[in-house]
Amino acid sequence: MSYTKRVRKDLLEISPYRLDTDFPSEAIPNLVRMSLNENPLIEKPKLTQMLKKVVAKVDPRDYPEPHARIAVDAISKFHKIDPLRVLVGNGLDDVLDRLVRTFVDKDSGVLVTEPTFFMYTYYTQLCQGKKIEVMLNNDFSLDIETLIRTSKDAKLVFICSPNSPTGNQFERDDIIQIIEKCNSIVVIDETYVDFAKYSMLELTNKYDNLIVLRTFSKAYGLAGIRIGYLIGESGLVDTIKKTVHPFNVGTLAQHLVVEALKNHAYFKKRFKAVIKERNWLIQELKSIDGVTVFPSDANFILFKIINGKSSSKIQNDLRRKGLLIKDRGKIPMLQNCLRVTVGTRASNKRFLRELRRILS
Ligand SMILES: Cc1ncc(COP(=O)(O)O)c(C=O)c1O
Repeated sequence: MSYTKRVRKDLLEISPYRLDTDFPSEAIPNLVRMSLNENPLIEKPKLTQMLKKVVAKVDPRDYPEPHARIAVDAISKFHKIDPLRVLVGNGLDDVLDRLVRTFVDKDSGVLVTEPTFFMYTYYTQLCQGKKIEVMLNNDFSLDIETLIRTSKDAKLVFICSPNSPTGNQFERDDIIQIIEKCNSIVVIDETYVDFAKYSMLELTNKYDNLIVLRTFSKAYGLAGIRIGYLIGESGLVDTIKKTVHPFNVGTLAQHLVVEALKNHAYFKKRFKAVIKERNWLIQELKSIDGVTVFPSDANFILFKIINGKSSSKIQNDLRRKGLLIKDRGKIPMLQNCLRVTVGTRASNKRFLRELRRILS
């Protein structure tokens, strides 16, 4: 008998999330990935030094501290909050998965502003939830009125700020209005907040329906280590913990969080370097004919091709030259748009040179 008769029917209908364009199977010489918002401005020798320190502390024969206690303690001290309000997972994707599982079952409403990070939708689909879509305004700001009205049918409201792939951070007052007026759990994904103007994190003290998400993957340059976390009301965090298996984060990763936060002054300087590089790259892109550039509060830039060439062709042409960037041109509101990660000055120059050549 075929497995398809036994497997969950709804799962057969979900398309798998693919990363083929980010991890090409064919060998491409001098490949530079500028498609996943990793942070190459964090210097590799600094991370190697930190890793070496951590390795000395780790005995791989032992299970890690359950519920990532070492990392939870370091994060709670860093943010000066109660450890009972912190949940750490194997990357933020893991945390997102657990969060959605906690609230969503068949036909539960999940409000997602679009365009945004796809995984909110994906995990909702996995739980057979019902996605409620609210489009951003034309200037990529939040449509507060529609959002508040529509949220009455939603258990969760996802807001990514700064938003991917548009790059903008939403107005603080708009988000506060949503938290105060929605009768739902409001989740603010602050994956890119270290490159932006403000954080909502301290407001988790004030609002018990607010959850803030963070990750070490982007600003801290630790995507391969897989550490993400959630901050919220302690009872809520305790309930989400029921969906987490006890040894969900390895010992190495937990100790690396401690080390990274000890070195926060170093990372902070590098966040500033990324912001400087981003602003330089925006100016350079603006000087290219046939391109419209959108403002960014993140470590990536969204831009639109307006000279008749298609974004997918541009992505492919750049790929042939060893530069991987994201075509976002098929997403509603983002017709002919591409997203590029801020790289090192050398990668950025190479990208600009190739883009100019392709567009000329
Ligand atoms: C907005 C947003 N949220 C969450 C994630 C997941 O991050 P992590 O690498 O910690 O799983 C990403 C990664 O691309 C992201 O862009």
